[in-house]
Amino acid sequence: MYLSKLEVNHFRNYKKEKLSLCNNINIFIGDNAQGKTNILESIYILALTKSHRLGFENNIIQNGFSCCKIKGILRDNDELKELEIQVSEEKKSVFINQKEIKKIASYISNMNVIMFCPNDLDIIKGSPQVRRNLLNIQISQLYPLYVNYLNEYNKILKNRNEYLKQMSLNGFTDTRYLDIINEKLVDRGTKIYLMRKKYLDFINSKIGLIYENIMNINHLQILYENNLDLKNYQEEEIKKCFYYKLKSNLKREISQGMTLYGPHRDDFSFYIKDENMKFFSSQGQQRIAIISFKLAEVEIFNQEKNSSPILLLDDIFSELDIEKRNKLMKYIPNDVQTIITTTDLKNIQKKMMKQAKVFIVEQGKIREKVK
Ligand SMILES: Nc1ncnc2c1ncn2[C@@H]1O[C@H](COP(=O)(O)OP(=O)(O)OP(=O)(O)O)[C@@H](O)[C@H]1O
Ligand SMILES: [Mg+2]
Repeated sequence: MYLSKLEVNHFRNYKKEKLSLCNNINIFIGDNAQGKTNILESIYILALTKSHRLGFENNIIQNGFSCCKIKGILRDNDELKELEIQVSEEKKSVFINQKEIKKIASYISNMNVIMFCPNDLDIIKGSPQVRRNLLNIQISQLYPLYVNYLNEYNKILKNRNEYLKQMSLNGFTDTRYLDIINEKLVDRGTKIYLMRKKYLDFINSKIGLIYENIMNINHLQILYENNLDLKNYQEEEIKKCFYYKLKSNLKREISQGMTLYGPHRDDFSFYIKDENMKFFSSQGQQRIAIISFKLAEVEIFNQEKNSSPILLLDDIFSELDIEKRNKLMKYIPNDVQTIITTTDLKNIQKKMMKQAKVFIVEQGKIREKVK
């Protein structure tokens, strides 16, 4: 799939910009603070309704204005869709072909994006929240049902936590209501475990070879870490272990007023053989491992959806040596729409430049570079 047109209105430092993108490589070049990342962010938000910039996402409307709009024309195989998102201080609305879509879950599987950005190192170094977030975003784009399970799970979890707090404050001992909530929690939670496991198995079937080809180091694997002490990932086993954890830790959960077991506590790590990369790999190795993870995702999209996602590469080349840069680019097939930002065209291979459409970004204005 690819985005053929993009329009932003009062988004970050853009007043009104309209662009025609090509279906392979698009490069945005400009000095610092001109609006390069903002453009990638607008595409990411158009796809996923949320910003990739955690903690920086509350400020997307241009200063001094009350709402912003992002619009795009998406082409997927023979289909053409106009996607639009409008954001005001009070609400967010999404549209497909000018018809408002009320369920975000059915919107976000339309346009698939994978973002590569300098903050990605947090995927190894940061908190488990960062990794869960990545899983949720990617699996949601692949399987819309996952969003429903996740939303339901989060609602049940919130209820359960409130009830546990009540039990702790008021000394309730009747667990009948809790039994009902537990059943729902285990049901939705198990679906989430199964989908995450399937997804990480997929990643593991691809990531080792990609990393080896770029780094000449083999045996990179992702280890799924959850707190159920599972022996296997059969549905019945997950349910049994989940119930057991809830039952045997009730006292602890009441005293802490929160649910201590379940997919909301999931995590995963990058391992080379028996070593956790977080503690023993260099920054460059960690960076390439994360890039390999995302390249594996591209292959999963191709396989599962029969369509390539749009790749958003935010200034990632400046961090890599030339050899790694070239190897990485070899992994990006020509028929995948790729949108790249850079401060310096020297970071981009000549071969790639030849087929690319280049845009110059200057103080919230974009113009196409004539060849
Ligand atoms: N809501 C907003 N209204 C107006 N300007 C904003 C808003 N949010 C961010 N900006 C400005 O947009 C400018 C461009 O930001 P952006 O992150 O896109 O820069 P960049 O070109 O990617 O720079 P760098 O090369 O340093 O990464 C920044 O100066 C920022 O202050
Ligand atoms: Mg930037």
